[in-house]
Amino acid sequence: MISFSHVYKTYAGSRGQEIHALRDLNVEIARGEFVFLTGPSGAGKTTFFRLLSAYDRATSGQATVAGIRLNDLSGNDLAYYRRKLGVVFQDFRLLKHKTVLENVTLPLIIRGESPNAQRERAMQVLQDVGLHHKANEWPEQLSGGEQQRVAIARALIHRPGLIIADEPTGNLDPELSEEIMDLFEQANAQGTTVVVATHDHELVRRRNKRTLRLLAGQISDAELAAKGGMEWAHR
Ligand SMILES: Nc1ncnc2c1ncn2[C@@H]1O[C@H](COP(=O)(O)OP(=O)(O)O)[C@@H](O)[C@H]1O
Ligand SMILES: [Mg+2]
Repeated sequence: MISFSHVYKTYAGSRGQEIHALRDLNVEIARGEFVFLTGPSGAGKTTFFRLLSAYDRATSGQATVAGIRLNDLSGNDLAYYRRKLGVVFQDFRLLKHKTVLENVTLPLIIRGESPNAQRERAMQVLQDVGLHHKANEWPEQLSGGEQQRVAIARALIHRPGLIIADEPTGNLDPELSEEIMDLFEQANAQGTTVVVATHDHELVRRRNKRTLRLLAGQISDAELAAKGGMEWAHR
């Protein structure tokens, strides 16, 4: 599903020096996998997601998702690709002047589906995240954990093949973090490929998932050696 081969993302630093946010990154993630992406601040997690969501291009190397070469995307193809993803951020990014229901429905409105079908599907995903009773409230009336559940409902409403979440529990306390992870696992159980970036090691440790550790723009050897296992967590 996801294939990165010799991917570099290089930024120009303030003194003109090159910053390799990703350096010679090689990674394969299969359709239907659930993968954690860990690593300290500055390791390149967000950069990886910016490339995955085609908001930014690799400086060199090949990045493909479902056979689509991300470097070559432009125009309608780019817009179409982005609309097919589900993306969740640390800071929720809900529109504060729209109700919960309107926020969740947004990805369908852009696609021009009938209002009844939209509403029905939105209520269904709100039910999936346990918030159908808050459909007509404003985001600011909800707790942080509830806002993130709304953001996840919005990310899932168009049944994306891939959902990426960049530190989705970074603003939440541990108990709520577990609820959020349960929702990603539910989506994964229904066939969605899920990639979650987090630097919460406890959270990763509690779930037995493939874990990639980014360090200075590269997947570290420890994780490659322990692919699919949990050994790395104890080193
Ligand atoms: N737009 C940018 N310009 C210059 N440097 C950047 C830019 N975006 C990210 N970086 C640098 O790239 C590296 C990786 O950043 P990032 O992907 O945000 O890491 P993480 O999400 O793991 O904290 C950091 O050194 C960061 O300072
Ligand atoms: Mg980040």
